[in-house]
Formats: sequence, C-alpha cells, structure tokens
Amino acid sequence: MRDATGLARFLRPHLDGISPYMAVETVEALALRYALDPGEVSKLDANENPYGPSPKVYEALSDLRHVNHYPDPLATDLREAVATYAGARVGQVLVGSGADELIELLVRLFVEPGDSTIDMPPTFSMYRAFTLQNGGRVTEVVRDDSWAVDVPAVLDAITPRTKLIWVCSPNNPTGNLTPQEAVIPLLETGVPVVVDEAYHEFGGQTCLPLLSRYPNLVILRTFSKLAGIAGLRVGYMLCGEELVREALKLKQPYNVTTAGQAAALASLQDLDWLGRNVSAILEERERMRLLLEAQGTLLPYPSDSNFLLCEARTHDAKTVHLELARRGVFVRYFSKPRIHNCLRVSVGRPADTDRLIAALAALHPAGEVVTA
Ligand SMILES: Cc1ncc(COP(=O)(O)O)c(C=O)c1O
Repeated sequence: MRDATGLARFLRPHLDGISPYMAVETVEALALRYALDPGEVSKLDANENPYGPSPKVYEALSDLRHVNHYPDPLATDLREAVATYAGARVGQVLVGSGADELIELLVRLFVEPGDSTIDMPPTFSMYRAFTLQNGGRVTEVVRDDSWAVDVPAVLDAITPRTKLIWVCSPNNPTGNLTPQEAVIPLLETGVPVVVDEAYHEFGGQTCLPLLSRYPNLVILRTFSKLAGIAGLRVGYMLCGEELVREALKLKQPYNVTTAGQAAALASLQDLDWLGRNVSAILEERERMRLLLEAQGTLLPYPSDSNFLLCEARTHDAKTVHLELARRGVFVRYFSKPRIHNCLRVSVGRPADTDRLIAALAALHPAGEVVTA
C-alpha cells in the first residue's frame, strides 16, 4: 500500500502479500465495456443458473414485511427446510451468506496465523483466499492428469499445523467428482475435511452419509447454483452439532438477510421447479459438449457439474476469451498453471450455447478447416 495516509504501520502486516479477489463483473458492466446491448450478452462466466428463481421466490419477496426488523439470527424456518431437503438433523445445519461466508467462517474457526490448509489445485480459489486473508498458509497438492485428488500426496502433506483440507466435489473448475473412497482416508486422519458440494445437484453424489461416522466432516452447499438466487447470497453447511454450536459463536448474528432466508425457503417449496431446471441444464450440458467437440476450437473435459472446462485447441485461450467477449459471450479465463490454456464455460440456455458456437465459428476465416 502507498503510505500517503500513514495508515500502513497500523494495518495487519500479512495484508501486504494479498491481492483483492477478481470477482466476475455484472452483465451491465460487461455490456458497457464491450459496447454491447445487455440483452445480447451470454453470461457464462460464473456458473450461475440461467433459469433464475422459482416464481414462488418472487412472491415471497413481494410479500416481505418487517424488513425494519433484523432477520432471524438462527434462520429457524430455513434450517428446518434445509434439514428436510438434505436429509440431516436441524442441529447439523448452519446457513450463511453464501457458501463463501461459511468457507471464511471455517477458516476463522480452525486456522491460527501460521497454520495451514490444504487445497488441490486447480480448484475453487476462495479456500486459498480466505486462508491467506486470515494469516494462514496454503499447502497445494496438485491434482493428477485426470483432475483426480492425489490422496497419498495429501496424506503426506499433512503436518501438525494442518487445520483444514478442502475437497471440492464436483470440483470447480475441472468439473469432476471426488468419490467417497478418496475422501475416507482423509477423514481417517482426524483433520477437518470440508467437502464443498456447491454443484451437488448436477453431479448427484454426496458425502453426507459419512457424517454419522466422521465428526470432522463438513459438507458445504449453496442456493446460488441450484436455486438461481446467487444475488441473494444463501449457502449452508452440514456438520456435527458440536461444530454448529462452535460456529454460532463466531458467525455474524444477522448474516443471512430476511430476503435471502425467504427466497431460499420459497425455493425449497418448489422442488419441481428446481428439478426441471437441473434437468434442462444437464440436457444442455450434453448438447453443448457435442457441439463443442464438433466445432473443434474448445475441447471439453467430462463434467459432473453445470459447466464445462475446455482446452483451447486452435487459438490460445486468452485470445478465444477476448474474441468471445467482443461477441457478447463471457466465459471464464484462468491465468493459472495447468489451466492457462483452458476456459470454463457455464451451461446456459440453448440460445446461449448457440451464440457461443456461432462466436467460435466466427473466429476462423471462412473455409479454414479446423482439425481437432
Ligand atoms: C465450489 C464453490 N464453492 C462455493 C461457491 C460459493 O457459492 P456462494 O454463491 O454460495 O457463495 C462457489 C461459487 O462459485 C463454488 O464454485
């Protein structure tokens, strides 16, 4: 930090090594930057749900009363509904302002400055970001060539200062699941293991049955992807009741807004809507995969999620990213090892896929043959 104000000597020194998180931009900001009509933007960069919330969510929001009062700090009704939906006990549920808040809460619960957490890149970057923000260190155990977790290497990397192990399943951005058999040896170490199931409904597998055997297991989920309410920020964790009680000591009392609680509750009252949209997204994921493979510019990896990680074959990923953006198609580019030549493309509506494929086709001079 430039010390024009003289504040630097009061700031926590570890902030020097931290950069702000590069969050995705809004449709409006993207449209403005690329001089596009917002209606013509395909936003496929944040794994959001293209179908948005159930109509019941809008009804619940328009019926909101008493927003002059603080929200229920325990989110009682929502926790009960989540417990029923997930198949857990109410005491095992804690809701947060998005899964992101719960990731940070877990770091604040377990990590002292100088302690470490283990993540498995390429993976969701908030595990690293929140660990570093709280003065912790990150031990990275890279995934193998098929993006599977290298379990023996994770076990080797554990030290007395390891306080959390992050397993993202399905993994963002690679899209693959980590089977229970790979999670169990990590749980056997006794170290807290967080299985982030933000994309659970698109992959269909869960580690939840392991909760009764392993008090060191925490499952994270979110309403952002399933229920189309990313903007209202609601996520939840499922874990042992003792850990929920500890977490209640640290969580902000009014962490989930009245609107967020009502919207998440209304979402769970319309499981048909949620299920139909998950099916539509899975169908579209398959259509997009086939179209991409036939088109040849981006080669998708298999996915158990609502996005496809694709390797750029004919141009470098950065160029494809920019050229797509100029045509109103926004996907995620990573300047990171192993995936620097990849783009992550969220599954949108059929019209978004069509726009993506047309934009990719426009990258090639007419008549040029693309070999995959
Ligand atoms: C793996 C994973 N976990 C957690 C989150 C955060 O979800 P939320 O919107 O609930 O904060 C995301 C968001 O993209 C994610 O990809």
